[in-house]
Amino acid sequence: MESRIYKITLIEGDGIGHEVVPAARVVLEATGLSFAFEEAEAGWETFERIGTSVPEETVEKIERSDATLFGAATSPTKKIEGFFGAIRYLRRRLDLFANVRPAKYHPVPGATPGTDLVVVRENTEGLYVEQERRYARGRVAIADRVITYDASYRIAEFALELAKRRRGQLALVHKANVLPLSDGLFLEAAYDAAKRHPTVETEEVIVDACAMRLVRDPSQFDVLVMENLFGDIISDLTAGLVGGLGIAPSGNIGERAAIFEPVHGSAPDIAGKGIANPTAAILSAAMMLDHLGETRMARAIEEAVDHVLETGPRTPDLGGKATTFEFAEAVATRLREVI
Ligand code: NAI
Ligand code: MG
Repeated sequence: MESRIYKITLIEGDGIGHEVVPAARVVLEATGLSFAFEEAEAGWETFERIGTSVPEETVEKIERSDATLFGAATSPTKKIEGFFGAIRYLRRRLDLFANVRPAKYHPVPGATPGTDLVVVRENTEGLYVEQERRYARGRVAIADRVITYDASYRIAEFALELAKRRRGQLALVHKANVLPLSDGLFLEAAYDAAKRHPTVETEEVIVDACAMRLVRDPSQFDVLVMENLFGDIISDLTAGLVGGLGIAPSGNIGERAAIFEPVHGSAPDIAGKGIANPTAAILSAAMMLDHLGETRMARAIEEAVDHVLETGPRTPDLGGKATTFEFAEAVATRLREVI
């Protein structure tokens, strides 16, 4: 088989991004695949230095590459003139319409065995159009929640294709009982898409009932698709089901580009100490390989991560004493043994 060279952009971002992205790179390099890595910058530190959180050069590098691995970016809690959140900007700018968040059991404390599902979150509309205003001398506030047929159809189509490659089940998560015009439109578009995929078994689940069913028995779900805010909340719930932020990977996928990133943030409380858990970043790198068609290697990385999570060394968040790089090296060593 001809081996190709994958062009990968690495964006560390801020805080523990500087630790977990290089750690994930160690594992990628252990695969034996050919990568041409290019580094790019984004986030708060970039903003402080040059006055923008995402330089044009970074956008160009992402567009030129086959995929991008992103660490995390810090967002200040108060409004700062000219600042915008790097990842939210990139999602919109590059039309990364699908936010894909797998929640799969890994052997860590508090994880629910049998969980193996993927939340597919619509990434471009809903409440995230950020159109808010106040009336009545500030005593009434309204936020627009935009649902379009086209975006709903596109995200449903993406989720249906994903379900076909998995166990063939898709939950359409909604609140159409209260919002028949907007969530009704989401369902209408999703059913139109589903007609073209008769092998996928679809069911409608109201979002609040979905939260309860997930907590009681996550193994009943395969792929779940929903609009932006529901996806934000439900995917944090599912991350919690499999052991929390240090573990959960994600992908932001569009037609022109794809950015993979751990769900966690820049963790300023532990940044610079070399103790961040790189599992979420490593699993994000595995998702990236799966996206590039290297499915077997993606699986091998997951298995190597599980082996090290089980046998150690572990990072302090999981009760161990290992540094970020000791963990990554252990995963890389295991990977070299099995491939
Ligand atoms: P966070 O995810 O950075 O941290 C929450 C808690 O989890 C902290 O105690 C942290 O030490 C711990 N933690 C997170 N990742 C860990 C890891 N890999 N290993 C061990 N422990 C880990 O969330 P927080 O504190 O709410 O936000 C910090 C900054 O990150 C903020 O500026 C926020 O805006 C940003 N953020 C960025 C995201 C992104 O880039 N996609 C996502 C979430 C937050
Ligand atoms: Mg969130």
